[in-house]
Amino acid sequence: MHTITLDGETDFDGWRKAARLLAMNGVAPADVSWIVAGGDEPELFPTEQDTSLQEVQGTFNVPAQFVDLAQQVILHRDPQRFALLYRMLWRLRSNHDLLHLATDPDTAKLESMARAIRRDEHKMHAFVRFREIGRDAKAHFVAWFEPEHHIVELAAPFFTRRFADMAWSILTPDLCAHWDGHEVSFSPGVDKSMAPSSDRLEETWRTYYASIFNPARLKTRAMQKEMPKKYWRNLPEAGLIKPLIEKAERITGEMIAAEALEPKKPQRREDTMARSHPAAESEHTEDTSLKALRDEAADCRACHLWKDATQTVFGEGPKHASVMMVGEQPGDKEDLAGKPFVGPAGQMLDKALKEAGIIREKVYVTNAVKHFKFVPRGKFRLHQKPATPEIKACRPWYEREKALVKPELVVAMGATAAQSVFGKIVPVGKTRGRVIDLDDGTRVLVTVHPSYLLRLPDEVARAREYENFVEDLRIVAAHLSKSARAA
Ligand code: URA
Repeated sequence: MHTITLDGETDFDGWRKAARLLAMNGVAPADVSWIVAGGDEPELFPTEQDTSLQEVQGTFNVPAQFVDLAQQVILHRDPQRFALLYRMLWRLRSNHDLLHLATDPDTAKLESMARAIRRDEHKMHAFVRFREIGRDAKAHFVAWFEPEHHIVELAAPFFTRRFADMAWSILTPDLCAHWDGHEVSFSPGVDKSMAPSSDRLEETWRTYYASIFNPARLKTRAMQKEMPKKYWRNLPEAGLIKPLIEKAERITGEMIAAEALEPKKPQRREDTMARSHPAAESEHTEDTSLKALRDEAADCRACHLWKDATQTVFGEGPKHASVMMVGEQPGDKEDLAGKPFVGPAGQMLDKALKEAGIIREKVYVTNAVKHFKFVPRGKFRLHQKPATPEIKACRPWYEREKALVKPELVVAMGATAAQSVFGKIVPVGKTRGRVIDLDDGTRVLVTVHPSYLLRLPDEVARAREYENFVEDLRIVAAHLSKSARAA
């Protein structure tokens, strides 16, 4: 038996060197035991480095894809990962295609471990909340986070870009990351008692969260999936979640009770069934194939925008909405919330939809580009218009959303949306306000983007343009009133 001692939980170079040596010496996977120096595993035997392995001349190749996969999997907390990776390396020498064989148990396990790492990295990007200690020139921001896997080094570059001009530390039980504005450094993990528990920024988060919380769009289970309860204890806004949900449920209850006082319309038989039959109920929830697409998009790396954005902001709405509304890209608030159109442009859209007589929950709302593009300016992130390569890179997501939802009418709001919907640059001024038939059967209405209205400095022009926007949306309302699917 050969015992290999790695320097740390994420010692990829050590694993790679040892694995190469073992393979060159013909040591079968079953004859190797892997341990981490100072790790949690009890050491039954002294952990002197194995000296019986000889440097052997020669070389062997494994697919580059395996190296990428191994670099991710090594961050997993499963103690068997080193052995599993070595077994795969051993097997790959005689079967280079093994990683394409999704049914192979080792391939499937490694892929699922790599997915868990990517998911954990997303969660860290989205749920780290800094608290300020010290003020002004001495300000330092500290966050506490408990990752599931050893991902602190993987996730740290995101925070160096995102919070480039503040000094921060992210404390975790495994490893702590620190940024002084120039360089990132790491120190051993600490206990939670080292982390500050509240600060003056807390209220800002809570106010912001309460402002984007929309009871009409409350889907408790989906929300808990996106923001698992395990992270709640470190989120300043978490204290609001329960009361906000309760309030939403109370309001819904009151609305139902109030409705009962109105004279009731005769119910169609399908309506009654829809409420009592769980499968029929799911008509109004997100389809699993849309959900699978959303999960896939969460890992999108088709252009560089994912690097600085908090998360992919995917579309939202009923699975067979007859109308799909397409915006440009998520803004600051959407990027943080992971939902389209919840910030100022979203509020403008909500107001105009209401005025046109459209219930937002009946339409599918998405963006042409699904990551926030911005430049940091001090504490702010300034929106940047997406460029053609970014629009093109993101277009397959729009096309796949459209293929699943199959809307009868697509509303392109602004030039970026129109470029994505038509697959080419289209002048908004010349096309707006009339329904255009595309070759693939899609009907498209082009209009302005709601944030255009927010940018107009002149009040009179703003009121006029707002009216024009509502007029365009009335075309959508007329379509909805005729569509069998909108009922
Ligand atoms: N602007 C957009 O185009 N989309 C959003 O989701 C928010 C602002």
